[in-house]
Amino acid sequence: MNSQKMINAFDPKAAQGLNQAERSMIERRQKLLGPAYRLFYQHPVHLVRGEGAWMFDAEGNRFLDCYNNVASVGHAHPHVVEAIAKQAATLNTHTRYLHDTVLDYAEALLATFPAELGHVMFTCTGSEANDLALRIARAQTGGTGVVVTELAYHGVTASLAELSPSLGEGVPLGRDIRTVAAPDLYRYGPEMPAKFAADIRAAFADMARHGIKPAALLVDTMFTSDGVFPDPAGFLAGAADAAREAGALFIADEVQPGFGRTGQMWGFGRHGVVPDMVSLGKPMGNGHPVAGLVLKPEVMERFGSAARYFNTFGGNPVSAAAGMAVLQVIQREGLVENAGKIGAHLLAGLRRLAEKHAIIGDVRGAGLSVGVEMVTDRAAKTPATAETTRIVNELREKRLLISASGPGANILKIRPPLCFSATQADMLVQALDEVLAAL
Ligand SMILES: Cc1ncc(COP(=O)(O)O)c(C=O)c1O
Repeated sequence: MNSQKMINAFDPKAAQGLNQAERSMIERRQKLLGPAYRLFYQHPVHLVRGEGAWMFDAEGNRFLDCYNNVASVGHAHPHVVEAIAKQAATLNTHTRYLHDTVLDYAEALLATFPAELGHVMFTCTGSEANDLALRIARAQTGGTGVVVTELAYHGVTASLAELSPSLGEGVPLGRDIRTVAAPDLYRYGPEMPAKFAADIRAAFADMARHGIKPAALLVDTMFTSDGVFPDPAGFLAGAADAAREAGALFIADEVQPGFGRTGQMWGFGRHGVVPDMVSLGKPMGNGHPVAGLVLKPEVMERFGSAARYFNTFGGNPVSAAAGMAVLQVIQREGLVENAGKIGAHLLAGLRRLAEKHAIIGDVRGAGLSVGVEMVTDRAAKTPATAETTRIVNELREKRLLISASGPGANILKIRPPLCFSATQADMLVQALDEVLAAL
């Protein structure tokens, strides 16, 4: 594949098919925002409003959002909107003043983690959370080396871009970074957990040979950008052991799987392992920029004595109120359970489609984090790259939004808001059935 090209990115050269209003908006974006931005879909979507799992475009057309891990308790959820508005109308400051909301939220959030994870530090983005995790890991271990997966994405800062191979060959990896193949059960079979741990050991050993001291193993616990790899439950424990044997810390990036998506509150919970640090973001504020890092107090010792931490917007009262409201909605509306139940229903529907359509090579997922791997040949598992692009775009024409991932750009990535219903899951399965039948 051309790894420099973003999967499901709009190609401006294909703008001729669009109407005048769309073309002029795209031109305006390019002129104002510059060349680094990308739109989704060959026919970009212009959205103006959202409610639950639905979004509406400028003409009032309704789109089923099957790809949103930000507004994860539902678009414009009234409880979250009200909490933000109320706090914004009262006071917004920062963590250098005493304020109850950030403490109440920290308490409520930490209560959802294993007891060993006793501190939380607030940031505004998942990138900042991972960046802080790296600083802390490097201070604590005295090392610099980090192991990530082959198609990982961990953020936009200089320290994270150099360990986010999914950004493509145009963004070089750092010299202290090693990559390991994704834990691909579909390709490696039952040997995968042992192979994954062995690859991590080998990566740390290679660092040592080059005089690089290990600092961390950093993984998205659902391997979302690698192609969604949840199984077998428990395999990450061996990976964490391999990292710790090398003297590295285990950082779980929960920016994608966290806050209930997998049918458990945290993706690492599926693997019976307690990370040293856990980075949070995306769904944490349902669209409000709030993120953070949860960690074991003992990994903070060196960083805490050498450095001080202040993030102007991180943990401000409005953000804390947004985070608290999201947590309340997740708990009151039983969204973790809903993700598990509707996710299982969706997986069953997709597996029925696999019996009918030979192009579906594998269906996998946990809760509402689902990957469907498309192949042109089931025995050889050859990526159906071009077909996958067509499927994603044809679903968009039917007004259902998903995307794709994986090294062959052939894995449908399905990640609806946690309030997704069985009826909405059925709509997606039916639309996909129609698209596959017409391929
Ligand atoms: C796994 C993972 N980690 C970190 C990030 C970075 O988060 P942010 O965009 O909030 O900086 C992302 C964003 O897509 C992500 O998917």
